[in-house]
Parts: sequence; C-alpha cells; structure tokens
Amino acid sequence: MGLSDVLPDNWEANTVGGCALSDLADAYGTPLYVMDERHVLDRLATFRRAFGAQTVTAYAAKAFFCIAMADILNRADWWVDVVSGGELATALAGGLAPERIIVHGNVKTDEELETAISVGVGRIVVDDPAEMARLVSIAAGRPVRVMLRLNVEVGADTHQKIRTTGSEAQFGMTDAEADAAIAQLADAVSLHGVHIHIGSQLRNPDVHVMALKAVLTFAERRRDSFAGNQIDLDVGGGFGVPYLADDPVVPIERFAEPLLEALSGHPGIRLMVEPGRAIVANAGVILYRAVSRKGADRPFLAVDGGISDNPRPALYDARYEMRSVSRFDQPHDTMFRVVGRHCETSDRLGEMLLPGDTAPGDLLIMPGTGAYAHAMASRYNMLPRRPVIFVADGQHRIAVPGETNDELVR
Ligand SMILES: Cc1ncc(COP(=O)(O)O)c(C=O)c1O
Repeated sequence: MGLSDVLPDNWEANTVGGCALSDLADAYGTPLYVMDERHVLDRLATFRRAFGAQTVTAYAAKAFFCIAMADILNRADWWVDVVSGGELATALAGGLAPERIIVHGNVKTDEELETAISVGVGRIVVDDPAEMARLVSIAAGRPVRVMLRLNVEVGADTHQKIRTTGSEAQFGMTDAEADAAIAQLADAVSLHGVHIHIGSQLRNPDVHVMALKAVLTFAERRRDSFAGNQIDLDVGGGFGVPYLADDPVVPIERFAEPLLEALSGHPGIRLMVEPGRAIVANAGVILYRAVSRKGADRPFLAVDGGISDNPRPALYDARYEMRSVSRFDQPHDTMFRVVGRHCETSDRLGEMLLPGDTAPGDLLIMPGTGAYAHAMASRYNMLPRRPVIFVADGQHRIAVPGETNDELVR
C-alpha cells in the first residue's frame, strides 16, 4: 500500500514509460490522458496467470477502449466485452475475432442485435425474457450463442451507484424471469452460460464467490438446457484497485484462487471473468495545468480540465491523489481545493495535498485515471475531448486523437 501502487508501474521521477511528462505536455497540450502500455500488458498477463488457461478472460471495453487497446487485447489473447454498437465496431475494427466478443447491455437495439448476429459474435448476454423473444425473431434461424444475465441479491461492498445487483438494479433477471427466457430458446439460438456482474470496485473476494455460488446453483439445476451440457459461468468484473495511497491492494490471485476452488468438482463448467478497471485504472494518469489560484485558507486551485475529462468525482464522489510535476521534490503539505473549469460547483477534482507555493502554470498529475475517465468524457461547455497517449520504452504515440474546435463547430 502506497503511492507507487496508484501510479503506473513504469513511472519514475516525473516520467511514465520513459517519457518525461513535461515533454508530453509540451508536445500534446493539457489536459492529457497518458497510459503506460506495459502496465496494461502486465495486468492482462497477471489475470491470465492467476485464472489459468482454462478460464476465459474478457476485457470490459467500457473502462477504456480504442483500436490501440483492441490491438493490445489481441496480442495478449483476450476476449472483449462490449455494450454498444460503437464498442462492437471498435472491437471489429481493432481486429478482434468476432467469436471472442461478448455482447452485453440491458438495452440492445434491433440494429445492434442484427449486427452482432450477422458478424457472428461469441456470446450475446440476454438481459430479460422479452429480449430473448426479440433475439430469436431477429436471428430468424441463424445460429446465436446466448448467456443469461442473472440478478442475484449479493451484498456488494461498494458505492450504491456502482452496485449492479438486487432489486434496486435494472440489470439481469430473477430465476423465474431466466426460466421464462429459457422457455423461449428456439431454432439455432442455443444457451451457453450464465452471467452476473455484482458491481464495481469490490475488494472482498468473498462477494465474488457468493455470486458465483448463486449462479452455479441456478445453472446446475438446469444443466439440460445448456448446449452440450457445458456451461460458461461468467462472474463479471468489479475487481477493485487502489485510488488513494492508503487504499488496500488486493492481489488478483486472492480473487482467482477461491473462485477456481468453488468450481472444483463441477465438471463441464468454464469460468469467465470480465475485468475493466483492474486492467487500466492504474496504468493511466491525467496531466493538468494549473490556471488560477484563489484564497488563503485551503486555496482553490483551478486546472484546465475537470468534469468533462473525468466525471467520476462528481458522479460517485470518487477520490484521487494528485502530485505536482513542476514541484515534485517539494513536500506536498498544503491542502488545496482543486477544481475544474466547468460551470458547476460540483466540478471538484478533490481536496489535494500539494506544495504550498503551487502556482498557475504548474503541471499536475492525477493518477488512477486510466479507467472510466476518457471513456466517460463529454464535451460539456463545448470543450473538445482530449487525446490519449500511449507510452512505452521512451516512445509515445497517439492512441486516441484529440478533437478540435472545428470538429465541435461542425
Ligand atoms: C457486465 C459488466 N462486466 C464487467 C464490467 C467491468 O467492471 P470493472 O471495470 O469494475 O471491472 C462492468 C462494469 O460496469 C459490467 O457492467
């Protein structure tokens, strides 16, 4: 536990992946998303090692996605989980084999289902019985491999806004609804598995095991309904990461071992996991420039980005660390209220300890921002979305180009 757990693996004295952050700011401007490519590759390999080759590892594209990320997944031999036509198109454009794509979502339009069926995705996760009926009708005899998303009440120890099971969550089916969906399987639409995603940023492996046991019981009782009596059991993502220096770090093996153990003695069942945040969150930093400073007591420090490049503090009260790049060697001992540039009082990046003489023009980094920041970016106040730069071995490249005012105007 410490700041090094929050920072990218290949961070060293104001460089990431061997690239000086001040040079990146000069070359691309700020705010800037910087991702440590080797960190991402390491997390993909760690998951594969921990869960073993018998487990399907699928990256949840919603955490951060682009063609460069799809390419990394290909190199690491991963599947991907997508929830929209746009994520599906990106996965395909990035060269991911359709049979390694899992299509999720509580809302899939007819057009999205048609595309998924026609390209031959690996799995479509059905969210309710009516969707199963629509799918069978759209498939019109073409083969489709489906899974069922179950909603089992499991007490996920996370923020209520990122908890995705129980009666307050709109995702998945009760056992009775899942049975109604099974009753509608027809033609070449075949059942291959069950899925659950209990929530995000979970740090207690027991919760994943409880969820797995619940869906395992459901599936075992209906084994005859599954194609070839083989069941894919997908326990979703949600593996927690450290955002603050004193956050606990739960090694992925602590999740993998009890999950694999819970499946021993159940032949014909294959485990699937779908991490997003755990792969990319700590690989990324956002680089900001301070623009103004106001007030004496807990001064406001305003930076050139905010809710548009990372809405998580406003959405979930998410907390982050911040470090000064410009005054890195000075003690970070003065509390600042770091705010963004948007017309919302809630546009606050957080209360951050920074060097007392932090001033306009200084460069700052917010680590732990590789997941659900760029992915959730908006153009609020007509700010163009900012680029994502991948860094590795002293080289940098644009993974996602930034937008321009001309594009916004158009
Ligand atoms: C179905 C599903 N799978 C996987 C994930 C990934 O979660 P995380 O990024 O916390 O690992 C999510 C996140 O919302 C999800 O909804």
